[in-house]
Amino acid sequence: MSATSSLRSVLPPDIRARKGTAPLVVLTAYTTPVARLVDAHCDIALVGDSVGMVLHGMTSTLGVTMEMMMLHGKAVVRGCTRAMVVIDMPFGSYEESPEQAYRNAARLMAETGAPAVKLEGGAHMAETIAFLTKRGVPVMAHIGLTPQSVNTLGGYKVVGREGEAEGVMADARAVEEAGAFAVVLEKVPMGLAARITQNLTIPTIGIGAGAACDGQVLVVDDMLGLFTEFRPKFVKRYANLGQDANRAIAEYAAEVRARSFPAPENAFADVLPPKDAKP
Ligand code: KIV
Repeated sequence: MSATSSLRSVLPPDIRARKGTAPLVVLTAYTTPVARLVDAHCDIALVGDSVGMVLHGMTSTLGVTMEMMMLHGKAVVRGCTRAMVVIDMPFGSYEESPEQAYRNAARLMAETGAPAVKLEGGAHMAETIAFLTKRGVPVMAHIGLTPQSVNTLGGYKVVGREGEAEGVMADARAVEEAGAFAVVLEKVPMGLAARITQNLTIPTIGIGAGAACDGQVLVVDDMLGLFTEFRPKFVKRYANLGQDANRAIAEYAAEVRARSFPAPENAFADVLPPKDAKP
């Protein structure tokens, strides 16, 4: 076991204390190099179970395992010196009982060094959130659209319109009361998200929930234009790295086929050059 997170980094009480102050900036990260980029600009690096779709080609998050979260969690902790790392609990690792959730959350924290976990679900997960938070596991909750329940929800839909609104509000209140230090609101209509944000004492972090939330989260590969399988309305593209990478790989392939790469400057001479030249 290796707990390598630093107490110099942002911790759950710092995030909770940000309620009503400057917006919290959150992005997902799954690898050390991207974690370094996120660490330089964000408050939280979320090792989302979206890793299954984004990096592993899965069609949903349901096949993501504890081992995958552990591996990517360790990589992200290595890349962060300041931002707080939060690791998603994968489908099937916490729903059965509070004890099962504790066992797996403790494993994620102890083996990766991350100081907090995230799990999906509102009122029905409140008992589990309380069990964890009373035992030293800080929990970020996730309500509204909960992608691990895509099959019972019937798709990646907006959750909280009209007759559903009070249920989502009740979920928000339940996870706050259970001790969550923050709550992700996914695909919640913006008026309702604003109302939840006003009514809670913990920060709300929106994804497709409008600008009134206390913070925002996006999947990093979505906003960089690296993951293009689908593009929900709430994703704003800040770069088109997928297109850049495609152009670069096509150019490399053409140069290798034309034998114009490697050039002499990318290769090594048979005889050592004079001392003042580059080796
Ligand atoms: O898995 C994930 O990336 C997430 C965010 C979309 C909130 O849960």
